Formats: sequence, C-alpha cells, structure tokens
Amino acid sequence: MTPIKNTIINKNTTISPIWFMRQAGRYLPEFRNIREKNKNFIKLCLDSDLASEITLQPLNRFNLDAAIIFSDILMVPYGLNQKVEFKKNFGPTLGNLNMNNLSKISENDFKKKLNPIYKLIQKTKLNNITKNKDIIGFIGAPWTLALYMINKISPKKNEINNVLNDLNKVKDLIQILNKYLKIHILNQVENGASIIQIFDSWAGLLDDKHLNDFVYSPTSELVTFTKSLNIPVICFPRGIKNYKNYCEEVNPDVINIDYEIDPHKIKKDINICVQGGLDPKILLTNKENIKKEAKKYLDIFVDQPYIFNLGHGILPETNPDMVEYLVNFVKNY
Ligand code: CP3
Repeated sequence: MTPIKNTIINKNTTISPIWFMRQAGRYLPEFRNIREKNKNFIKLCLDSDLASEITLQPLNRFNLDAAIIFSDILMVPYGLNQKVEFKKNFGPTLGNLNMNNLSKISENDFKKKLNPIYKLIQKTKLNNITKNKDIIGFIGAPWTLALYMINKISPKKNEINNVLNDLNKVKDLIQILNKYLKIHILNQVENGASIIQIFDSWAGLLDDKHLNDFVYSPTSELVTFTKSLNIPVICFPRGIKNYKNYCEEVNPDVINIDYEIDPHKIKKDINICVQGGLDPKILLTNKENIKKEAKKYLDIFVDQPYIFNLGHGILPETNPDMVEYLVNFVKNY
C-alpha cells in the first residue's frame, strides 16, 4: 500500500506522507524552461509527453509521496467547447458561455478532446519513479467551475453578485457539469489515477444560504461517485468558514484545509484525515521559520491521520531549496 493510502485507509499516524499543490509549476526552473518554449498553456496541458515530464519534475528532485497530474481545472470547460486562454500575469480568460450548445455536446467528443490528459496519466504511471506512490487526478468543484464559466475571469468577492443574479442558470450549469465531471473522474481513474482531489477554490465566496445547492449537494454527489470506484477523495473547499459542516455534508475521505483556518479548531472539530494548512508564504521566509511552522502542524495532528501539504499552491517565487528543506524536515520528523 502507498504511504498516502496507508494514512487514509489504515489511519496510520506514525508517518505523515507529503506532496504539494502546484508542486509542478513556475517555481521550478525546469518547468519555466519548457513553458518558455510552449506559450499556449492549454496546448501544453494536451501534450501528453511534455505534461507527463512536467508531472514528474518535482518527483525527480524531492522525496514526495504523490505525483499530481499536470493539467488544470479549466480543461473541463475547454472540453465543453468554451474558449479558455491563459494570459501572462493575468490568469485565465474564458470565452462566452453558450448554455444551448452545452446541452448538445456528446460524451464522446468531450472524451476525445480530453484524451491527451488520460494518456498523460498512463504514461506517468508507467514511469518507475511513481512506483509505490499515488497519482493524484483532480477536478474543479462544480461551483468553482460554474463561476469561472459565467464570470469568464477569476472572481473577486463583489463580482459574484452578477453570477448569483441568475440562480437558475448556475443550478442548470452545475447539473450539466456534474455529468461531465463524473466522466472526467472515471477516465482519470481508469487510466491510473489512484486518488482524486476536488478543488473548490471559490467556496469561500458564498454565503451560507447558497452552500447547500452550490457546494454541499453537488460535491457530495461527486464524492459518492468517486468512492463507488474504490478511490479515496480529497476535498479542498478553500476559504469555507465551517469545515465541520462541510465534512458532515460532503463526507470526503480527506479534508484539505486552507491557511486561514486555525488548525487547533480543525483538530477539535474534525476527526477524519486532514491534509495541508501551512501558508505557502512561509516557504518564502527562512529555514528556522519553515521548521517551526511545519512542526506546528505535525504536532497538532500527531495522533490523527495527516497528509502534509500547504494551505494553497506553491507560489511561483518560491526557492526550490526551501521546498527540499521542508520535505526532508517532514520526512525525518
Ligand atoms: O502541480 C499541480 O498542482 C497540478 C497542476 C494544477 C494546475 N492548476 C497547473 C497550473 C492544478 C491542480 C491546478 C488547479 C487549478 N487551476 C485551480 C484550483 C487550485 C487553486 O489554485 O485554487 C484553479 C483555480 C485553476 C485555474 C488557474 N490555472 C488559474 C487561476 C491560473 C492562473 C494563476 C496561476 O496560478 O498562474 C492557472 C494557471 C496554471 N495552472 C499554472 C499552472 C502550473 C501556471 C501556468 C503558467 O505557467 O503560467
């Protein structure tokens, strides 16, 4: 059994396995090197060979317990024929959403468009370096994807009012998304993903009154689906105020916490396996501080299954030496 599954399934607490969100990314010179020659981010995600190489880059450097596939949550809107572009220093920009066209898409066309992602997973699994490690596949949660698809750029708190103007549209979109997200989960699993993480990066923007329809109910459907495949599922509802409610309603195998929530409170409220928490900005400081802050999380969750990770992705300005220091510290603790 892999170290991460030993923690999730056997509830082993003697070691904390470790991996990072955005472990493959711009903080690595070898990634920037490939990225420079491949200006189109979507195309890069659809190049199975290069995407697999990028997926493995952090594993070649650090003693990590999982590979997370190099892809993006916005590949699903792309698969649903919405235009998706990544502009330098701006982030994603989506084209207009056409609800009529959306209902006419065939499952086969969707699968065909995303097939290079499934090939990349196969390829990654064949590499010896992933032996006894997990390959983490992922999706964006329906709310976060619906928000991008309607808003067309990364939202700010006040912008979601426009999106919430038409609640029926959001509900319809979430329903359509859930159908395709199940297909995307299934295909990732059939091609070698051994864990699925669900990223709900904008769950924290919603008022309580919308949580049930837009977050709990559709996400729990995807969690149930993933569990039915015998695959553990990690949920990351970033910025949510009540992680306890979320866990009770959505029932994931693992809850990834963000860096704004007090880990002592999580420890008191939640007894399932916890992942993450450490502020990625800590990696921009110094070794003493990294050690102190990492120790804090390891000590709080000493007698609870805990997967070491951050409270959001590794920042592009991070020095890879600090990542190496952190991995070794956690591995030897
Ligand atoms: O290493 C990994 O974690 C796997 C790959 C991965 C990427 N995106 C690659 C990526 C994963 C899991 C994601 C998830 C993702 N994508 C989320 C959820 C997690 C989160 O960050 O909240 C979201 C919201 C997106 C959408 C997205 N993709 C944004 C907002 C941006 C631009 C901002 C940024 O961080 O650059 C991206 C681009 C992106 N996705 C990059 C990478 C490595 C940077 C691309 C570049 O080189 O310019």
